[in-house]
Amino acid sequence: MELPFAESYKIKMVETIERSTREEREKWIKEAKFNLFNLKSEQVFIDLLTDSGTGAMSDKQWSAMMLGDESYAGASSYYKLKNTIKELLGFEYFLPTHQGRAAENVLFSALIKEGDIIPGNSHFDTTKGHIEFRKAKAIDCTIDEAFDTEIDHPFKGNVDLNKLENTIKKYTPEKIPFIILTVTCNSSGGQPVSIENMKGIRAIADKYKIPVYYDSARFAENAYFIKLREKAYENKTVKEIVKEMFSYADGMTMSSKKDAIVNMGGFIALRSEEVFKKATVFNIIFEGYITYGGMSGRDMNALAQGLDEGTEFDYLNTRIRQVAYLGQKLTDYGISVQKPYGGHAIFIDATKFLPNVPKEQYIAQTLAVELYLEAGIRGVEIGTLLADRDPETRENRYPALELLRLAIPRRVYTNNHMDVIAVALKNVFDRRDQITKGFNILEEAPIMRHFTVELERVK
Ligand code: F0G
Repeated sequence: MELPFAESYKIKMVETIERSTREEREKWIKEAKFNLFNLKSEQVFIDLLTDSGTGAMSDKQWSAMMLGDESYAGASSYYKLKNTIKELLGFEYFLPTHQGRAAENVLFSALIKEGDIIPGNSHFDTTKGHIEFRKAKAIDCTIDEAFDTEIDHPFKGNVDLNKLENTIKKYTPEKIPFIILTVTCNSSGGQPVSIENMKGIRAIADKYKIPVYYDSARFAENAYFIKLREKAYENKTVKEIVKEMFSYADGMTMSSKKDAIVNMGGFIALRSEEVFKKATVFNIIFEGYITYGGMSGRDMNALAQGLDEGTEFDYLNTRIRQVAYLGQKLTDYGISVQKPYGGHAIFIDATKFLPNVPKEQYIAQTLAVELYLEAGIRGVEIGTLLADRDPETRENRYPALELLRLAIPRRVYTNNHMDVIAVALKNVFDRRDQITKGFNILEEAPIMRHFTVELERVK
């Protein structure tokens, strides 16, 4: 008999999580103004709000923390991380930042000016926020297949090279300080970009002399998918694939809270000394001195170890198979999710799940609230609330997909938790005909409103 699959780690420390009654949850979600970000963590049984900073560090990461060097300048922890980045990712220059959006803030301060155009593949919301904050514009050049959840394309994060070239021609290369490629592409469902596509983007970028940066939060998951899905790479190690991926980039921003499995941290890595020098000025103003930039020495040590562990096949195989396990259960229950299953999360097609809720009433948010009420599970809306209003017209932007994201923290939950999530969703799905009303907005912020929005039920 073939041995079944099992996790590539065992558990050394545990944390209690609290169950609650539906009555309690009704009260709490009302107090939270139907915004799941406002819930206290103890009001949540299984927390799938994000895979960012919520992973479990390993014994080796915790022990690396004890060796952290907290010197203001020239700490050994800085050099340790610098060497890991050089060896693993191939970049000569690096700046630590406190998280991913801070890396965006620093790099974009050095590179973007008003009126610029930044093409890419479904920019993440903080990336788009930092672009629009500088009165520049993000243009989405993702392949059309990404916007149909049922099409089984192996690389739904890919850029449509024609869309990219047409964008460059339309706006002229002078208006485009760089192209940004998000790996994996969070906004289209944790979907990977192929090496072939990276090479194609590089060729176009070279033709028009435009730099390419990767938003790399989930670069290791992207490399894992390349190994599994891109024939020429099946015999390469994840680390070899990672090195090749970044060889087509001029630099990267990183949210270390994802694939580097730490609770806080980020960085910028670069090939150009000139860009490094420009970015350094902003790093010192916004983040801290060059050799710590928003991170403590111990955190840089844990990050260096996390980058190494996070690019090991066995770890990635355990993680991504767990995500697929949940995806398959939901599919078996007849629930429509983004396919193929993403690296860090399952994305439920909320429009198909709740066909009776009008889009003006925030369909995916309605599903998120229903799932919380059902079993204390917290997912996150990736739909109209997240898409914000158009900065010029102030009208709601209705995205191509209205999704509920169930992000799976790394090394945190077991497959028993996945079973609970799947059944909870099935129960909501079975009563979907009775769910006909969503929410109205009571109050919202001018940008990134989803974090703080206050809602009321449509009567
Ligand atoms: N880029 C991508 C692709 C991301 O997913 C995130 C964060 C960031 C940049 C910003 O990094 O949070 O460290 O400042 N994504 C989290 C999420 C918040 O839940 O998907 P950060």
